[in-house]
Amino acid sequence: MRFGVIGHGGRISHVIKYELRRLEPAVRVVGIVDPDEAGARARLDECDRQDVVFYGSVDEMMRQANLDAVLIGTRCNLHTPFAIEVAKYDVPLFLEKPVSTSMEQAVALERAFEQSRCQVVVSFPLRVSPLCGLCRQYIEEGAVGSPEHILAVNYVPYGTCYFDGHYRDYAVTQGLFLQKATHDFDYMMYLMGAPIVKVAAMASWGRVFGGKRPAGLTCDRCEETATCLESPENRRRNLSGGGDQSHPCLFSEEIGTPESGMNEDSSSALVEFANGARGVYTQVFYSRRDSGTRGATVSGYLGTLSFDWYTNALKRVRHHAPFTDRVAGGEGLGHFGGDTALAENFLQVIRGHAPSRTPIQTGVQSVYTCLAARESAHEGRFVAVRQVGA
Ligand SMILES: NC(=O)c1ccc[n+]([C@@H]2O[C@H](COP(=O)([O-])OP(=O)(O)OC[C@H]3O[C@@H](n4cnc5c(N)ncnc54)[C@H](O)[C@@H]3O)[C@@H](O)[C@H]2O)c1
Repeated sequence: MRFGVIGHGGRISHVIKYELRRLEPAVRVVGIVDPDEAGARARLDECDRQDVVFYGSVDEMMRQANLDAVLIGTRCNLHTPFAIEVAKYDVPLFLEKPVSTSMEQAVALERAFEQSRCQVVVSFPLRVSPLCGLCRQYIEEGAVGSPEHILAVNYVPYGTCYFDGHYRDYAVTQGLFLQKATHDFDYMMYLMGAPIVKVAAMASWGRVFGGKRPAGLTCDRCEETATCLESPENRRRNLSGGGDQSHPCLFSEEIGTPESGMNEDSSSALVEFANGARGVYTQVFYSRRDSGTRGATVSGYLGTLSFDWYTNALKRVRHHAPFTDRVAGGEGLGHFGGDTALAENFLQVIRGHAPSRTPIQTGVQSVYTCLAARESAHEGRFVAVRQVGA
């Protein structure tokens, strides 16, 4: 099975080596478009290093490499332009999220795929994770009656990476609704069986991370590492997570300002679904250690379902019968089993055995929702969400 990769970085090389190849050992990376040839090559498995060809353009790779599938793993702002190039070909595409970082990009992406034969699997592991699937199955079986409300939370215990790693570059990420909530809005719409049509959001910027420390400051050149809670020695001592080597300062002016654009410390959204149901979503990026929580509570007149990917468990309460079920999930799966399910689905799509479980429209609809949430948080008013196909 011959793969071409555009942007062979950390995330996509992991998906190929540890998910796709585990399910299909015959996977080979035969073509790459990536300006950092040395870095991209270093991330290849041994079996790919000899024969892989680096191409100067997507068109060149698509025409010459005789590919069975393409994967786009560049950083966020390049997903759309490369996906639009791939849309011209009838080859299945695995596309990293967020699929776009602006309204212009999202509309162009939606248009490019309207006439395309290219089948896309958007990298949304949460939607396809077994725990989320079980929750959806219970809803379809009537466990809550009509789902009327969803409360979704994401207390991110590894959130420092959005302030000391490459994600802090706001010009590339465009904030944490697009970067993080794109997953959560997507699975919320899946569970509730309807798109989000209206959002009211708030965000906190620059109250925890960001600040006035000079641009370019790293721990190895800082005189405050004894007291700074983010220094490698304090992170190690406190078991507070994050990289334990010298890193860019989390309190640096380089992170941006609320006016120039910066990732938020936390953000929340009230949402309304097309079927009239309502919900709330909150994400918090300074959480640490075992404060990590990600999951949802879905309720209706007949019952309440709650699940949490971190505890890998689901609770089902019958409102009108004296029974409550607790379901424990199996152990040891990447992205809570979602990465494996995505890989399985992508291989099925390549073989023509099944449609995508996360087609391009799911990625675009989620981006429209994230953009509405960001606009609402900045402007302090309800914002209508653009709908795919509108
Ligand atoms: N679905 C998920 O759960 C999930 C998890 C982690 C990351 N991601 C997404 O994966 C993406 C990549 O993140 P990462 O940490 O792997 O980044 P990375 O920096 O490790 O990888 C990006 C790669 O793109 C290459 N690149 C840069 N410019 C390019 C160009 N013009 N053409 C082709 N290649 C180019 C880089 O050299 C690098 O190899 C991000 O958008 C992130 O949001 C998704």
